[in-house]
Amino acid sequence: MPWSRCGSRRSPSTGTRHGRNATRIFLLPTSSRRSPSCLFFVAVLGERIVGTVMGGYDGHRGWMHSLAVDESVCRHGIGTRLVAHVESTLTELGCPKLNLQIQSAKTELRGFYEALGYRADAVISLGKRLGELAAPAPAKAPVSAS
Ligand SMILES: CC(C)(COP(=O)(O)OP(=O)(O)OC[C@H]1O[C@@H](n2cnc3c(N)ncnc32)[C@H](O)[C@@H]1OP(=O)(O)O)[C@@H](O)C(=O)NCCC(=O)NCCS
Repeated sequence: MPWSRCGSRRSPSTGTRHGRNATRIFLLPTSSRRSPSCLFFVAVLGERIVGTVMGGYDGHRGWMHSLAVDESVCRHGIGTRLVAHVESTLTELGCPKLNLQIQSAKTELRGFYEALGYRADAVISLGKRLGELAAPAPAKAPVSAS
């Protein structure tokens, strides 16, 4: 899958120029327009999956994550088209705002998304791991006797 292939980046020129016109984008059957909590688009070139993105809409906000394009076809517009598919699907569903998170160390991603009209929100992103990955709860501070 592209997620595992895009860890080390090479020059976009190592790819061929066939990506922009030949790539088809599919909505996988795990997704349903009547139940849009999980959208999963894949970009297919020939018989090869070269891009993925997931999204969803809970009735309040839309989310997009797991965008990845195979490094051999990066900078051919596939990432832009995948994002556009999530945006248009959520817009049709009446979603008023689409949110996403990027790791702060991945500064190049900010340029990609800003070119598509995304801007940083004044929010703090919080997360908590659940189940087996959960961290032990912090010890409570002792109660003062006074
Ligand atoms: C980020 C990513 C999805 C972009 O996909 P892509 O198909 O290469 O993007 P596009 O070809 O649609 O790029 C459109 C524009 O975005 C900008 N852009 C794309 N990648 C960029 C990068 N690494 N740095 C800066 N700008 C970038 C450029 O302006 C580009 O236009 P140009 O090629 O005409 O200069 C892809 O590089 C990737 O999979 N990266 C690693 C995985 C990852 O970190 N995913 C995000 C998880 S949240």
